[in-house]
Amino acid sequence: MKALIVYCHPSEDSFTRHVRDAFIRGVTDSGNEYILSDLYAMDFRTDMSEKEYLRDANYRDTNDLAGDVLAEQEKVNAADAIVLIYPVFWTEAPAKLVGWFDRVWSYGFAYGRKRMKTPDKGLILCTAGNTRERLEKFGLLESMNKVMFGDRFFGRVKSREFIVFDGMSRELEQRGKNWDMNLETAYKKGKELFASAEKAFSVDGRFFIAAENAASGEVSDETVFSYHQTGNVICA
Ligand SMILES: Cc1cc2nc3c(=O)[nH]c(=O)nc-3n(C[C@H](O)[C@H](O)[C@H](O)COP(=O)(O)O)c2cc1C
Repeated sequence: MKALIVYCHPSEDSFTRHVRDAFIRGVTDSGNEYILSDLYAMDFRTDMSEKEYLRDANYRDTNDLAGDVLAEQEKVNAADAIVLIYPVFWTEAPAKLVGWFDRVWSYGFAYGRKRMKTPDKGLILCTAGNTRERLEKFGLLESMNKVMFGDRFFGRVKSREFIVFDGMSRELEQRGKNWDMNLETAYKKGKELFASAEKAFSVDGRFFIAAENAASGEVSDETVFSYHQTGNVICA
């Protein structure tokens, strides 16, 4: 299975960069694949052109999307999970990631006729300078979650998870104290990203009986099928 990782941080000298690397290690260690969109490294254009704005504002599903937008949409449709990794900037994602949504979530792709596939999972790993206590006290955590899952991902992913690595300001002791534990969590999230989807489809160890039988059928309602599954191989 394949994860699309949309990563957005202006500096490699950051904790968020370590989260990205730990998560990627987890994904590859579990035998899965990933595609990385590193928005700053790609210098992804974030501001909509007037043409793009008028296309979406007038609900025109025209065939003239920009090449960089089409490339991102292809990555989304090739993925079984979308993972966003970013630092919180003013209770939002950095402008570059917000702009990615403005342009890539275009009319006819993310809404309207919706050519977008629905990936199994939408996962957010974000780092925050504030402590969880402070983010909760002012309702900021809830609003971050609402904007992403109540709007941008709404109805566009089958399951969702929002992880905040809080208190990661360079001024707080918590940053150094929680560093290794947070990276372990990021690694685990990568390793287990597709584990629940695989479990959901497994018939291993289950028993079935026939619900219907043809007159010429060779089984009766006393026949019990014992199923075994290893990966995608099923026998009974
Ligand atoms: C422009 C800017 C705005 C920020 N706004 C917030 C914020 O609203 N809430 C918060 O908890 N942290 C905020 N932060 C702190 C970042 O989230 C923090 O730099 C990051 O989580 C620490 O990880 P890093 O080493 O990867 O940058 C802001 C940082 C910057 C540079």
